[in-house]
Amino acid sequence: MPARQRFDAAYYRRHYQGPDRVHSASQVGRLAAGTAGLAAWLCVEVRSVLEVGAGPGYWRAWFRRHRPGVRYLSTDASAWACRRWGHARRDISAWRPRAPFDLVVCQGVLQYLDDAAAARAIENLAAGCRGLLYLEAVTRHDLLEVVDADRTDTSIHARTGDWYRERLDPHFAQVGAGIWAARSAGIPLYELEGAPVHPRLRRQSSAASAASSAARLGRTGLEES
Ligand SMILES: C[S@@+](CC[C@H](N)C(=O)[O-])C[C@H]1O[C@@H](n2cnc3c(N)ncnc32)[C@H](O)[C@@H]1O
Repeated sequence: MPARQRFDAAYYRRHYQGPDRVHSASQVGRLAAGTAGLAAWLCVEVRSVLEVGAGPGYWRAWFRRHRPGVRYLSTDASAWACRRWGHARRDISAWRPRAPFDLVVCQGVLQYLDDAAAARAIENLAAGCRGLLYLEAVTRHDLLEVVDADRTDTSIHARTGDWYRERLDPHFAQVGAGIWAARSAGIPLYELEGAPVHPRLRRQSSAASAASSAARLGRTGLEES
């Protein structure tokens, strides 16, 4: 079902109000604070944020309150959500920003897109990100092992984590806890700071990380021998 029909008042009432809501503004506020803190630790100056599929806009609320100087673009494909919460109407499978943002947030969106649309969306997220990406997408494993089926929308495109990693890996290094670092940013990560690289992806990842070795040396202060 297209986003404009599925994501209506009833959808947001069911998933964002009452005891069975997926998460609250204060929970997402803690996630936003943690992400901003990690960005500062990784020396990513967050002056601009793009949020994709923003729904009730909890991330934007945190940034408005705690980082009022940040330029924030919140987007959603749902006409209802855009009217209700004042987002720009954008379908991430068909749109990419003209210039990249320091932080891109995409929470709980990609599982609603079919394979072709999700693959295009990942390319668009990558084109729109020059620093960090926060990404949450429910996978097949999550449906079986992690989520509470009474509270989570299980009518989704359930793909494997590897499906996502294969498409993210050319553009991002996985930091962990939903955070991905744009390879183009050359953010230096110690070996144990990042998630282990999937064996199938090791070759392309090591080629990309060699390109950022100069930046890594800058952070460790070590001389190359
Ligand atoms: C589960 S809600 C997540 C909302 C918010 N990110 C959160 O975590 O609370 C999914 C959101 O993704 C939006 N969405 C679905 N397909 C989209 C697309 N192709 N492009 C942009 N947003 C989309 C929906 O309209 C909806 O607001």
